[in-house]
Amino acid sequence: MPVDLFLENCRTERGTFNIGVDDGRIVKITRGRMDASERIDLRGYHVLPGLIDAHVHFRDPGLEYKEDFRSGSMAAARGGFSTVIDMPNTVPPADTTSEFKRKIKIGERKSVVDFGLHAGYSDPSEVEGILKFGPASFKVFMDSIEMGKVDVLFRRLRDLGSGVPITLHCENREIIRHSRENLGEVEEPYAYSLARPPLAEEVSVAEAAALAYHYRHPVHICHLSTRRALRFIEPFRGYITCEVTPHHLLLDSGYLRRFGNLAKTNPPLRSAETGLSPGDLPDIDIIGTDHAPHTLPEKEMGVWEAPPGIPNLEVVLRVLLTLVSEGRMNISTIRRMLAEGPARIFGLASKGFIREGMDADFTVVDLRREGEISADEFYSRAHYTPFEGFRYRGDAVMTIVRGEVVMDDGEVPGGRGRYIACHSKKEHD
Ligand code: NCD
Ligand code: ZN
Repeated sequence: MPVDLFLENCRTERGTFNIGVDDGRIVKITRGRMDASERIDLRGYHVLPGLIDAHVHFRDPGLEYKEDFRSGSMAAARGGFSTVIDMPNTVPPADTTSEFKRKIKIGERKSVVDFGLHAGYSDPSEVEGILKFGPASFKVFMDSIEMGKVDVLFRRLRDLGSGVPITLHCENREIIRHSRENLGEVEEPYAYSLARPPLAEEVSVAEAAALAYHYRHPVHICHLSTRRALRFIEPFRGYITCEVTPHHLLLDSGYLRRFGNLAKTNPPLRSAETGLSPGDLPDIDIIGTDHAPHTLPEKEMGVWEAPPGIPNLEVVLRVLLTLVSEGRMNISTIRRMLAEGPARIFGLASKGFIREGMDADFTVVDLRREGEISADEFYSRAHYTPFEGFRYRGDAVMTIVRGEVVMDDGEVPGGRGRYIACHSKKEHD
């Protein structure tokens, strides 16, 4: 019997192989040949495991005018992502069993790539019900919650014997409040980085470390933005993982002067001295885009009214491959931080690795393709980026989800994404 698909001449960091795919799974990795219904020759390209973005905001339900599961997942496919994990701050938030289930249905109807979901948290009595549906984590915004309530969540998960991680947005709201008050009347977008200073993150990460260590419970810190906060994590590596975004890695607060509110995001861009840079990557677990789309009219409001967030799905891989082409990063770092790392941390048992038995998810990249980033071409509904005009070298040319091509040479023909329950099967070794 021929297999469904045979991918020929797949160059990886470990050598060049042919890959047999049947029924959406990798059935054979071989130097030989196989009988197949369809063949794709990938000579000249580099093949990565399908990339996973563990931090996207698709705004569905409730804020579909900014982005919905269809436009967001098309942006993901275009950017080389075969799986995304969506954040719960939709309207209403995905913090009850019924809203969580509703979002699974929305994604299964609209998504062109596979997806997992982070759960929100407000009512502790909802935690047990949500756990049955395989959330990637419970997400808590430390800038808008009482510490006592966070403590209750840790206890609840301990009492339920659940190892599902708690994902934290770490910025201390008291520090933010007093920093904003001290600024007085200012209107330039640059002031935003002063209103949410590095100390707000450092204090909040220290609190997160205390909670993780006290409860010996896994904590994942989103979009870390300061080098000092990274130092707080070091002694607690067994309990804490962390993430960086492309903008915190490569842009500094000067971009708020150049791009105004288009560069406004939480946590804000930092100065070159306090921020993170590619040299810090060995100490960071994953790269998440924090794809957080808004409309241009919203971004044109005053600095204090405009919503924070940057759409990144169609930017990040091009920017990272450019670093690879400049010799500032290895391609294996992309594999570790955008595939293996997210799969391990969020318990995506069938994803993240090119291995027999795993889902046939692949991101095919052309390391020589050059161009200039332009938000006009985004599949995302949010047509802006502080990376506008960035000259890149290296881009995704094909995205494959369970054996189905969902992006081919920049075009997204469609696809039927599946919900992936997290932490359900045996974890990766
Ligand atoms: C997030 C969003 O827009 O949903 N924005 C952002 O700047 N990261 C929310 C948030 O994290 O504050
Ligand atoms: Zn976010």
